[in-house]
Amino acid sequence: MMHLTTVVGARPQFIKAAAVSRAVREIFSPEITERIIHTGQHYDHEMSEVFFEELQLPRPEVNLAVGSHSHGKQTALMISLLEKEFLTNPPDAVLVYGDTNSTLAGALAASKLHIPVIHVEAGMRSYDKSMPEEINRVLSDHVSTLLFTPTETGMRNLKKEGLVHHRGAFHDPDHPVIYHCGDVMYDNCLHFQALAEERSRILEEYGLEPGRYHLATLHRAQNTDDPARLTNLFTALLEITHASGKKTIVPLHPRTSSLLRKSVPDPLLKALMAGECILATPVAYFDMLVLEKNAHLILTDSGGVQKEAYFFGKPCIILRAETEWKEITATRSAILADADPKKIRKAYQRFESSPALSFPPIFGDGHAASFICRTMLDCLG
Ligand code: UD1
Ligand code: UDP
Repeated sequence: MMHLTTVVGARPQFIKAAAVSRAVREIFSPEITERIIHTGQHYDHEMSEVFFEELQLPRPEVNLAVGSHSHGKQTALMISLLEKEFLTNPPDAVLVYGDTNSTLAGALAASKLHIPVIHVEAGMRSYDKSMPEEINRVLSDHVSTLLFTPTETGMRNLKKEGLVHHRGAFHDPDHPVIYHCGDVMYDNCLHFQALAEERSRILEEYGLEPGRYHLATLHRAQNTDDPARLTNLFTALLEITHASGKKTIVPLHPRTSSLLRKSVPDPLLKALMAGECILATPVAYFDMLVLEKNAHLILTDSGGVQKEAYFFGKPCIILRAETEWKEITATRSAILADADPKKIRKAYQRFESSPALSFPPIFGDGHAASFICRTMLDCLG
């Protein structure tokens, strides 16, 4: 029996973890036990609890309740508390997802105790170290023993950094195992789509008609913490809303919500508050799937939402200067527009004037999670 400890802490990690936890429960329960530790990085009901309720993700055995702090303090608190947990209940391996401070803390605490680290969504790079996530990704990958990358680009990035697949029988961070296995978020999208459509009432709740609204999300520090960029982004969203005659719904991350009130000029804030864009609280995952599936177009700086736009065959305007998801932009179904209203308008017009887009399968076959579990057992079990 392999004793796995999964470390999660932020919204996209609860969603990613749901896929692997499901595979553990439904296929691998005779061979793997899973213990979930929540760092407490995200703590609002709609940023955390709602996902455990909806996605049948087992409740965390422990919540470290670390909360919001500066990066150094938040990560340090997590490392110190995780180390204690790993010493009290030593796992055979620690599983981390993506690129948040919770990912880095889990990877560092485990690797220093010589516990094998499994990194799902390894190899993604923006090559911009001013982005906190880039530091988290690079460091987590380089202390991991099993690395699962969702895309070909991820595989190439790892090889460029000297991380090669070790073919021997023994594996540690110096002899890692590296696989391109598809994306667990795609597994989830396929698994939950029908149930989401059955359960969600989000379109009725906000008076949205399929194909007659845009969906926008933004929460990256680069966008929210710079008042000029935040102002540009909301100005562009308002312009597109007015020019198209379609509504725009923006489920606001708490970071964006508080900075919006502080940072954008009064007239813009008033227009937004008057309902010219629909500013919503963060929505649950099923609601988000339904919003994505029925949107006319998606604008986002989120990694996960870029991918989900692609899963649902939607044009996407990426509100960043670069993306880790190069396969998506290569299909031209998504355009990088940064926080530049001119580029955002131009991208919108391009999609309106040539709406035929193609979405070849680049995120696997919907079974990434079971591949990950099988490989964990083969290499570490
Ligand atoms: C974090 C991740 C980011 C990921 C995002 C997913 C890092 C460095 N960043 O960014 O990669 O894309 O999660 O959503 O780990 N807040 C609340 N309630 C909450 C959580 C946060 O009010 O439940 C507010 C706090 O003011 C906090 C701020 O949001 O200071 C930022 O939260 P934090 O977890 O530090 O970063 P995110 O922007 O959420
Ligand atoms: N998401 C959600 N509700 C929202 C916004 C996003 O359920 O209000 C989901 C979204 O569908 C995707 C994930 O959260 O599965 C993406 O997380 P986020 O944008 O917070 O982080 P990122 O992917 O950029 O790290």
